[in-house]
Amino acid sequence: MSKRIHRIAAIGGDGIGVEVVDACLEVLQVLADRDGGFDFDVQAFDWSTDRYKRTGAFMPAEGADQLRAFDAILFGAVGAPDVPDHLTLWGLRLAICQPLDQYANVRPTRVLPGIQSPLRHVNDGELDWVIVRENSEGEYAGQGGRSHPGLPLEVATDVSIFTRAGIERIMRFAFRLAQSRPRKFLTVVTKSNAQRHGMVLWDQIAAEIAQEFPDVQWDKMLVDAMTVRMVMNPGSLDTIVATNLHADILSDLAAALSGSIGVAPTANLNPERDTPSMFEPIHGSAFDITGKGVANPVATFWTAVMMLEHLGEKQAADRLMRAVEAVTANAELHTPDLGGKATTRMVTDAVIGAIRGRNK
Ligand code: IPM
Ligand code: MG
Repeated sequence: MSKRIHRIAAIGGDGIGVEVVDACLEVLQVLADRDGGFDFDVQAFDWSTDRYKRTGAFMPAEGADQLRAFDAILFGAVGAPDVPDHLTLWGLRLAICQPLDQYANVRPTRVLPGIQSPLRHVNDGELDWVIVRENSEGEYAGQGGRSHPGLPLEVATDVSIFTRAGIERIMRFAFRLAQSRPRKFLTVVTKSNAQRHGMVLWDQIAAEIAQEFPDVQWDKMLVDAMTVRMVMNPGSLDTIVATNLHADILSDLAAALSGSIGVAPTANLNPERDTPSMFEPIHGSAFDITGKGVANPVATFWTAVMMLEHLGEKQAADRLMRAVEAVTANAELHTPDLGGKATTRMVTDAVIGAIRGRNK
């Protein structure tokens, strides 16, 4: 019987992005060998800030089109201390997400075994959320400009774009995801008291799409009050949908509440599968620890779980998640972001050992 072959584009990017993607590719190969039913065909791309410094571009002009041939993209991180962040974001990450129309960004948050939430009163299973981030428009639409540079009347605008089509598709995605989870509960986050046009449209369309999902309960929160609820009453939340910027901020808070940004994964999905989806850890390039071998690879491993699920390899996805949980449960295998002394190598070897069915 021939194996299922998944074509993966691997873009390590900058800083620890390269380190955690390398660790993840190793783990993925072990999973494929263990399973026997599938394999990966990996192509690595050097698209990064280094490339930008050498050639003037983070990736080739037709880079996003090159990626269309793949089944999924595994991405590390982009960003460097000596290049402005808006150049790196628009030069690589958004230059992939937007043309490939990966409009649904999914960010699960859970306190993994052995990891301590900074919240004192979180009981087992109480903090178990999925944040759905609108990933194609809103505050990241890229509209705006600057005029009269250097003059007293210098002006700059960033215009948020909210379209009916964009809101409908992310709402439908979020309601469907909420419906697939045991609690069937969705919280719609906006700032519709202050932003009285686009955010009011969000509220209105949420109510419309809710009609299609009578079995899903839902409520609304203003984003500022949402931060309070996440901290004070985490168990009252399950699936959350918010705009591009609001969910960017809330997902950092969520990652911190789960114990470390070093474990938080994300998927940039094109749910219709017209284009490949992209999987990446939430954390950045972390130049302060780059090259020291102590980056936490768990976020990227969990990201790979999401990628395997997307590729239809449910059994391998479950196996990897169990291996990751077995490893986080052991405090000796915690990297410095979790207060431990373990290295990327130790965590990777332990996960590989757990996949192969050994403890050490
Ligand atoms: C994220 C990140 C990015 C974002 C940065 C790196 C530009 O914070 O994926 O959450 O804001 O989208
Ligand atoms: Mg962010």
